[in-house]
Amino acid sequence: MINQQTLIIGANSNIAKALVDQIQQYSNVGLILISRDLSDYSQIDNLQKITVQDYQPETISATVERLSRDRLKPITQVFICNGILHNSNIQPEKRLEELNAQSFQQVIAINALLPMLWIQQLTPLLASKSPCKIIVFSARVGSINDNKLGGWYSYRASKAALNMMLKTVAIELARRAKNIKIIAFHPGTTDTPLSKPFQRNVPPEKLFPCDFVAKQLLAITKKTEVDGSASYLDWQGNTIDW
Ligand SMILES: NC(=O)c1ccc[n+]([C@@H]2O[C@H](COP(=O)([O-])OP(=O)(O)OC[C@H]3O[C@@H](n4cnc5c(N)ncnc54)[C@H](OP(=O)(O)O)[C@@H]3O)[C@@H](O)[C@H]2O)c1
Repeated sequence: MINQQTLIIGANSNIAKALVDQIQQYSNVGLILISRDLSDYSQIDNLQKITVQDYQPETISATVERLSRDRLKPITQVFICNGILHNSNIQPEKRLEELNAQSFQQVIAINALLPMLWIQQLTPLLASKSPCKIIVFSARVGSINDNKLGGWYSYRASKAALNMMLKTVAIELARRAKNIKIIAFHPGTTDTPLSKPFQRNVPPEKLFPCDFVAKQLLAITKKTEVDGSASYLDWQGNTIDW
């Protein structure tokens, strides 16, 4: 019988799809999926699916209102998977000359602001006595300390900004919603459309299948305690320097 729910935002991510496959094996966990495109889940029935048109602030707040109305069991895990590195108009910068104001604004809005708008709207719903872990997909390239290669200005900066916001909100939640734990997660280079154009120089043993990453992430999430601070963890569960 379902006694808790997992919320997955950006559920069309390939890593999110692997998370869904694995979470479905737990008969006590209900799944709520949010995405702009849930067509890959059309064959699966025992899920709550919410298709959003976009991730504008009004859409996010209307979606959370709907969740507050519908909710039956406590949400104990939230995975925010959204992130872009490239699209038809955007490529990660190899050199300073490639930095472009519009592309930067789009990347930072999706990678840093969007997760925070969800956390902002979800906090009243998630604040309770039962533990709740919010896992946001970051990346190791967002570590300022770890930046030895340079390049990818917008993506790096957006993930560094995301990390700072996650650290900041964890400090506030430690006072306001002590049951919420914030985790910034680095999946490692994972075989998804996001990494596809950049896989050529990645040794096969360092390019992870999504099901491996999902398994690691679920084990790490389970093991990580609610401690009033943000953790920045990689796919092995190791701490990354901010
Ligand atoms: N793959 C890797 O090697 C790797 C490495 C480090 C970090 N990451 C991070 O892991 C996360 C998941 O990525 P993935 O590898 O699973 O990539 P993916 O399969 O390409 O998934 C893309 C994700 O980004 C969202 N997205 C794409 N364009 C968007 C837009 N214009 N506005 C809002 N959301 C948008 C999608 O949301 P919808 O469901 O709404 O389509 C989906 O959740 C990302 O945050 C990424 O930065 C990945």
